Amino acid sequence: MTTTSLPSYLFVPQTAVSPLVSFRLLQPNDLHALHQACFPERSLNAFRRSFAQLLRRYETERGFCLVAQTQAGLIGSGQLTIYPNGAELANLIVVPAWRGQGVGTAIIGILTAVAHHLQLPCLEIGVQNDNPRAQALYERLGFVPDRPLDLPNRPPALILRKQLPPNCN
Ligand SMILES: CC(C)(COP(=O)(O)OP(=O)(O)OC[C@H]1O[C@@H](n2cnc3c(N)ncnc32)[C@H](O)[C@@H]1OP(=O)(O)O)[C@@H](O)C(=O)NCCC(=O)NCCS
Repeated sequence: MTTTSLPSYLFVPQTAVSPLVSFRLLQPNDLHALHQACFPERSLNAFRRSFAQLLRRYETERGFCLVAQTQAGLIGSGQLTIYPNGAELANLIVVPAWRGQGVGTAIIGILTAVAHHLQLPCLEIGVQNDNPRAQALYERLGFVPDRPLDLPNRPPALILRKQLPPNCN
């Protein structure tokens, strides 16, 4: 099973979210839209490098970026990075106007469904200690606090972990 041949049903959210919102993989021509919608505080040059890395990760089957969109444009994104024994969910963001309407939950649900489809045994997500609402969201979705993450020059954070059921397909 590979990230470059994911069936389309995986991108249909299983939780309540507006029918105006749809989900798909990042495309090369999303560079400016994703930068403006979700990461405007980053310089375009720095963002261009991360964006190229995201596309490379997808091409080499080591992960991908999911985006949420309406007809008006991109409204959120989240990334899955695949390791030999699991995967990490990162850079989850929903634009302020769409927060609290189930988009973040849907992104996490789709990334979890993909990790399960890829027969990965577990998923991890990091959250800064000063973001208790995001942590509460992850715990509500079955992630369990696992270990602290103390990196130099970074705010203290916590890694949460979710075991995925075996996928015998
Ligand atoms: C965290 C985030 C992705 C959640 O997306 P969302 O679409 O608002 O999430 P949902 O609507 O599915 O669920 C709402 C829950 O998200 C959590 N949440 C965290 N930050 C929130 C915010 N600023 N606004 C609304 N909900 C937030 C809460 O648990 C909330 O539930 P509550 O209303 O009962 O408190 C989004 O709020 C966001 O982009 N925040 C800024 C970036 C960020 O903190 N990313 C996470 C890094 S670990």
